[in-house]
Amino acid sequence: MRLDRNYAKPYLSPQEYETYIEKHRAELEKLKNGGHADGMLGWLHPEDWADEAMCTRIEELAGEIREKAQVFVVVGLGGSNQGARALIEALCPQDAMPGGPEILYAALNLSASYYETLLKRIDGRSVYVNVIAKNFQTLEPGLTFRMLRHYMESRYSKEEAARRIITTVTVGDGMLHRISEENGYRYLPFPEDVGGRYSVFTPVGLLPVAVAGIHIRELIQGAVKAERACLAGGELLEDAKSYAVTRNALLEKGYGIEVLSFFEPQLEAFGRWWRQLFAESEGKQNTALFPAVCSFTEDLHSVGQYLQQGKRQMIETFLHIATPPCDRKVDPEPQMDDGFDYLDGRTFHEINECAYRATVKAHSEGGVPCMIVELDGLDARSLGELMYFYFIVCVCSSVLLGVDPFDQPGVENYKTEMFRLLKTKK
Ligand code: PA5
Repeated sequence: MRLDRNYAKPYLSPQEYETYIEKHRAELEKLKNGGHADGMLGWLHPEDWADEAMCTRIEELAGEIREKAQVFVVVGLGGSNQGARALIEALCPQDAMPGGPEILYAALNLSASYYETLLKRIDGRSVYVNVIAKNFQTLEPGLTFRMLRHYMESRYSKEEAARRIITTVTVGDGMLHRISEENGYRYLPFPEDVGGRYSVFTPVGLLPVAVAGIHIRELIQGAVKAERACLAGGELLEDAKSYAVTRNALLEKGYGIEVLSFFEPQLEAFGRWWRQLFAESEGKQNTALFPAVCSFTEDLHSVGQYLQQGKRQMIETFLHIATPPCDRKVDPEPQMDDGFDYLDGRTFHEINECAYRATVKAHSEGGVPCMIVELDGLDARSLGELMYFYFIVCVCSSVLLGVDPFDQPGVENYKTEMFRLLKTKK
């Protein structure tokens, strides 16, 4: 994994970069030993929650589900599902073991149509459900679990329904823990010292990922590699700090949006994970870059226009995969002149690379400070390393902004009014 800041340099001189560092020396001092901030730091050591015993337990449970289920419904919202979705979309099918159930996501919204479609997709198939909730106060998983629980109990005996429901819960006095104990659901721990959006390396992310057939030990190895590199104060920590410094120094210069762009559409759910991580961690006290995501080349034909010539307020980070999971040669066309003969002898990857290089050049010359995060390949280990790296960048960046990366007080505001409306007698 490498960070390239060269395309941002025309927009942030070495002197401006150094001035920002000087001004924030006190905050940067706090970031020795791996981006520490105070608070929910259980994610800092991935093996604390994904040790040998936990990996074996999750693999055994996932093995049963892969054998018996045709469909696996993940009930969870925000940090309770984004990490697993990111990995499953990015790595399946190429890096996953073949077989296993279709994975569906519930509790993403309050839409009756979405729920009806979900029911149609699971009906008549062998269903397992994983309900993931840290507090079990969030409306979407609470409502969806009530409906799915009734559905499961209408299709299976009460005992069989209970065997097919697995919960990921705060163990102790949590409501979902109590419900699980009383109803005989099997449960995994949702670590108390890990917030939702930092939970991908805990049972929260690991069970769905293992059910998808992804090698969770390789994922953890990637995260641990990044952890060691950061805690030893090595190059990766320096990259994380300089990424955080660059984006916030540009914020101080008036840029307001960071776009994460990639040329592999399998990374779209990763983009949503990244967007949630930064939006909920940093977007408070009227500060921070707004995180946006672009999937190229498709979005070059929509927001690409804005990136090139719209209001100059964006910085862009390209997530570049040096060797994608597969490639294919372009078919020759001897029969017809279709105007595309210049592609003869090329592969998709070569063509995609030309589009990527051309876009970096056009955007950076067009007034967008660009950075590149490069991964060698798209596999569990690389993504483990990348996700851990982004945790560190996000914490460093939040510390520089002076905000708490582990809370999200702003999401409560609409809820107060929603609950008032819902609790008013009809
Ligand atoms: O990152 C976070 O902490 C949040 O996005 C939560 O994951 C999200 O609000 C869901 O919370 P819960 O699992 O308690 O329902």
